This record gives sequence, C-alpha cells and structure tokens, in this order.
Amino acid sequence: MKIQIRPENKNDYKTISMINDMAFGQESEGLLVEKLRKNKKYLKDLSLVACMGNEIVGHILFSPIEIKSGNSSFKSLALAPMSVIPELQGLGIGSQLIENGLAKAKKMGHQSVIVLGHAAFYTKFKFTPASLFEITCPFEVPNEVFMAIELEKDALKNVSGTVEYPKEFQNL
Ligand SMILES: CC(C)(COP(=O)(O)OP(=O)(O)OC[C@H]1O[C@@H](n2cnc3c(N)ncnc32)[C@H](O)[C@@H]1OP(=O)(O)O)[C@@H](O)C(=O)NCCC(=O)NCCS
Repeated sequence: MKIQIRPENKNDYKTISMINDMAFGQESEGLLVEKLRKNKKYLKDLSLVACMGNEIVGHILFSPIEIKSGNSSFKSLALAPMSVIPELQGLGIGSQLIENGLAKAKKMGHQSVIVLGHAAFYTKFKFTPASLFEITCPFEVPNEVFMAIELEKDALKNVSGTVEYPKEFQNL
C-alpha cells in the first residue's frame, strides 16, 4: 500500500476528526483530538496523517504523559487515538503509521511510549505489557492491553508508577 506520512496541518483538522469517527464508529475520538489540540502541550509534529495522493486515509496521535510515583515524575508519550478509514483497514496503513510515529518520536528525543490497545497488534512493534516495567494504568484494564515500548535502551529501567493522561482523556 503506497502511502505518504506527514504531520497534520490546519487544513486537515476536519478530515482527521472524520476519520477517527468513521474508524471508531462514534464521535468521541474525533472530539478527543480536537480537545487535545487546544492543550498547550499538544505535539502537532506527532499528529501524523497517512495520505494516498491528496486523500487522508489514516491518523495517529502521540500525546505527552507523565508516569508518577510519589514525588517522582517521568515524561513519556501515549499513543492514542489511531485510525484508518474502514475500507482500507487491514492493508498495512496502521502499521506504517506506528513505525513512522515511533521513529519520529525517537528522533525528537522521546524515550518511551505507552499504549492501551490490542495486544496482538502492538506486540508486533515490540510493545510489551507495561507491568513488566511496574508501570500501571490509572484505571482498571486487563494486564496485556496496557503496553509500553522503550525508544532508547533501558529508558524505562528505573521507571515505575502510574500513568497520568492529559485531562482531555478523562471523559472519553
Ligand atoms: C487499529 C487500526 C488503526 C489498524 O490499522 P490497519 O491499517 O487496519 O492496520 P494494519 O493493516 O497495519 O494491521 C492490521 C492489524 O490490525 C489489528 N487490528 C485492527 N483492528 C483490530 C481490532 N478491532 N481488534 C483487534 N485487532 C485489530 C490486527 O492485529 C490486524 O492484524 P492482522 O492483519 O494480522 O489480522 C484500524 O484497524 C482502525 O482504525 N481500527 C478501528 C479503530 C481502532 O480500534 N483504533 C485503535 C485503538 S487501539
């Protein structure tokens, strides 16, 4: 599947919301992206779109999070949401968005990424259960769906705690 991946720009905002809503079959994720965009910590360079020609067919977003334990706090990224238009799912576009996004995040100096999602999918990209690093989710989820990846060797070696998501995730 021949696609180009690039950061979002202002002209993409409506389409990005639409693609998220189509992929998830509800309006929550599109709205979440819109709310996150207003957060001053929003990383517009890590809101990536997959294009076929001039058409946007997929989107992935990484947001800054903190892993907190007592007084200590460690910066990381959350991968969410991610979407590919229903007609083109299962053709490798999502995988390319993840690979490209992780590489870009690493290039920007980010050291790790956390994701809540399908274990069989994300383990393909070397995500492992976050519990292996003693990193926990702020709400109850099955162990295998809450995952982490180190972008630098041993980046999470001495990190433990609970993930604090941006407040916009609260009412998802
Ligand atoms: C998840 C998603 C972004 C993946 O994009 P994609 O282009 O379809 O992904 P790829 O073609 O690269 O990889 C396909 C893999 O996605 C995984 N996958 C996709 N949707 C899945 C779902 N609902 N449940 C479980 N696995 C899923 C499968 O592991 C599949 O692997 P397979 O081809 O070996 O069966 C896309 O399917 C989508 O938009 N789904 C709806 C929204 C969503 O669930 N977003 C992610 C939340 S974690």
